[in-house]
Amino acid sequence: MRLGIYTDPHYSSQAVTCGVRYNSRSLEKIKAAYRYFERMHCDLAVCLGDLIDKESDRALQTENLRKVAGVIRASTVPTVCLMGNHDAFAFTADGFYRILGADLRPSDRVADGRRLVFLDACYFRNGVRYQPGDTDWTDTYCPFEAELRKTVASSDENIYVFVHQNLDPAAEKRHRIANADGINRILSGCGKVKAVYQGHYHPGCRSVWNGIRYVTFPAVCESDDAFFVEEI
Ligand SMILES: [Fe+2]
Ligand SMILES: [Fe+2]
Repeated sequence: MRLGIYTDPHYSSQAVTCGVRYNSRSLEKIKAAYRYFERMHCDLAVCLGDLIDKESDRALQTENLRKVAGVIRASTVPTVCLMGNHDAFAFTADGFYRILGADLRPSDRVADGRRLVFLDACYFRNGVRYQPGDTDWTDTYCPFEAELRKTVASSDENIYVFVHQNLDPAAEKRHRIANADGINRILSGCGKVKAVYQGHYHPGCRSVWNGIRYVTFPAVCESDDAFFVEEI
């Protein structure tokens, strides 16, 4: 199975934010990503979140997400999009996928003998879901350990995990999911997980722990060729 992966476009009308995020250029970069994925005959594209960035005008946020959706939907490569904390700052999950299209909402799937597991960590460590206007990129939590334990126990397939925020033990603590250690114990304990794919930490990072590859992809908004093909 061939995956096209990209993350953190942070698309907005701003030319540059935080000194390094070239927000307004991201739409063209997403188009370039899909041209590459089509040329490479990817079976599925995964966007790991932070598709958009905040605008002072809420209507503009909606328009920006519609433009991103237009690019994604124009491709022949099917896509799923995880929500990042910046998406959650602008939209509820239902509002986000109403604009993108329900078919872009990730749900676990089995294909070609591989199980793809999508985790949502857009929650505060107290278990409360991020709300529009109320998020914290350093306080992130995934409340689905029980479901994950069941999924990995019942799976006959090799497992690949996708999540916006970071499970990688090597990632800086403030980028890591508060219960990352517990989730990693579930992932490493089952012996079936081959890789964990993440965004959120914009420089990117690669490491291996307990036989699992942790790949954090660099952000689209901060580099020119931040789109990747993974054979799994
Ligand atoms: Fe980001
Ligand atoms: Fe993020």
